[in-house]
Amino acid sequence: MKIITVLLVIFFVSYAISTDDQFPKDFMFGVSTAAYQVEGAWKDDGKGESIWDRLVHEHPEVIKCGSNADIACNSYYKYKEDIELTKKLNAKVFRFSIAWTRIAPNGDVSTLNPKGIDHYNCVINEIIANGLTPMATIYHWDLPQYLQELGGWTNPIMSDYLREYARVVFTYYGDRVKYWITINEPLQTCKGYGSKLYAPYLNLNNTGYYWAAYTQILGHAKVYRLYEEEFKSKQQGQVSISVDGVWYMPKDASSFDDMCTAERANQFERGIFSHPIYIGDFPPVVREWVDKKSKKEGRPWSTLPKFTKDEIILIKGTADFYAMNHYSSRLVTRGIDPNPQKFNVDAEYITSVDPSWPTSPFAPWIYVVPSGLRQLLVWLKNQYGNPPLVITENGYGDNGVLNDLDRINYLKGYLDATLQAIKVDKCNVIGYTVWSLLDNFEWMNAYTIHFGLVSVNFSDPERPRITKESYKFFQNVVTTRKLA
Ligand code: NOJ
Repeated sequence: MKIITVLLVIFFVSYAISTDDQFPKDFMFGVSTAAYQVEGAWKDDGKGESIWDRLVHEHPEVIKCGSNADIACNSYYKYKEDIELTKKLNAKVFRFSIAWTRIAPNGDVSTLNPKGIDHYNCVINEIIANGLTPMATIYHWDLPQYLQELGGWTNPIMSDYLREYARVVFTYYGDRVKYWITINEPLQTCKGYGSKLYAPYLNLNNTGYYWAAYTQILGHAKVYRLYEEEFKSKQQGQVSISVDGVWYMPKDASSFDDMCTAERANQFERGIFSHPIYIGDFPPVVREWVDKKSKKEGRPWSTLPKFTKDEIILIKGTADFYAMNHYSSRLVTRGIDPNPQKFNVDAEYITSVDPSWPTSPFAPWIYVVPSGLRQLLVWLKNQYGNPPLVITENGYGDNGVLNDLDRINYLKGYLDATLQAIKVDKCNVIGYTVWSLLDNFEWMNAYTIHFGLVSVNFSDPERPRITKESYKFFQNVVTTRKLA
């Protein structure tokens, strides 16, 4: 009896040691892409114009090298190759986005585009035929231009347009798509209204910024409730929203004021979207500081809209898993940024970086701080009750070299931080889809920053693909579920 007990203990201990450095068996590795950044074919097969089509054509001077995404990676025609490349990684998830303007060219679902609907049917069938799981983003920044003319995300009516468009995609694709992301990075969309960082390239100050936040949260919730009420029982899928942001750490870890500033900055960055969904309403610190600032500026009302009681109830509980995008960290201390982007003025923080943090010369906003990801995962676990969490984006920007050792180092660090968060901190991370499968159109930076595991030759009209060293690295991680 004793011997059996000893043997069993030895077996379990050695099993635990051997799997300690491995991602869990059912961990979902995958890749991430987005329609406007890869598809091209900007007016083929009945596609309508989006706010990005409009911006790149009307104001090429604000896009690096005056480029556009009219052809991009040509994935509208080459999606089979992209899916095959993902299959060969041994990955499980293929995350892509549906272009609203292909489904409903003018934004309103009273006119649908059958060729656009067919296109994603083919994409989804191909993903499944290759043994992969589709994860579909319903909205990844490419709002139909006609809807922008109604005010875009600053007009709460957009939440109804989003719901009706989502109804179409659930109806056509929900039999096969089981992971849905309603909106990608709502924070960045706000910047397109608050400070001309993206399309629609407006500077409506904090009013525009916060109304875009309000409408997107409401839109997300309406889509979630629609799925819950009309589709879930048959389709059995899961719905979330990909919330992004850098991780803020106190500049001086021993300073209570810096700690409060970092917490405040994180609430303004992520809590503004996640708190209404997990806890209800905007985070109290955001409400308090924006109201205070609005008063100080002599405004008759706060620039941060108020959810009604019914809206708070509608929004609370509208995520089946936590989806998050993350790339980098910053240090913060209290103060007014001398070179502010509108959205951080109310939160009163100044950012800096630790001189020991490596950065990318080509994407200088990316400082490589894997410990930041681990802290962030623990913070999310504590804030929102350790929900199942998928890292829907994480990646490194460079100049597109094939021997991309810096990307490999970045991914190694961030994947290791994820593993530690799972194993040591007991964070419920269930998936990781790297940004990105392909080098692609990096918004205002166009083709000057590359994030792909696969390089695309943008000077060849055929857009041939060639794998990089990081592709092999990721393939090895996915296959062995280990980092070594
Ligand atoms: C997040 C966005 O979702 C994606 O579109 C973008 O290309 C990456 N960040 C890299 O900047």
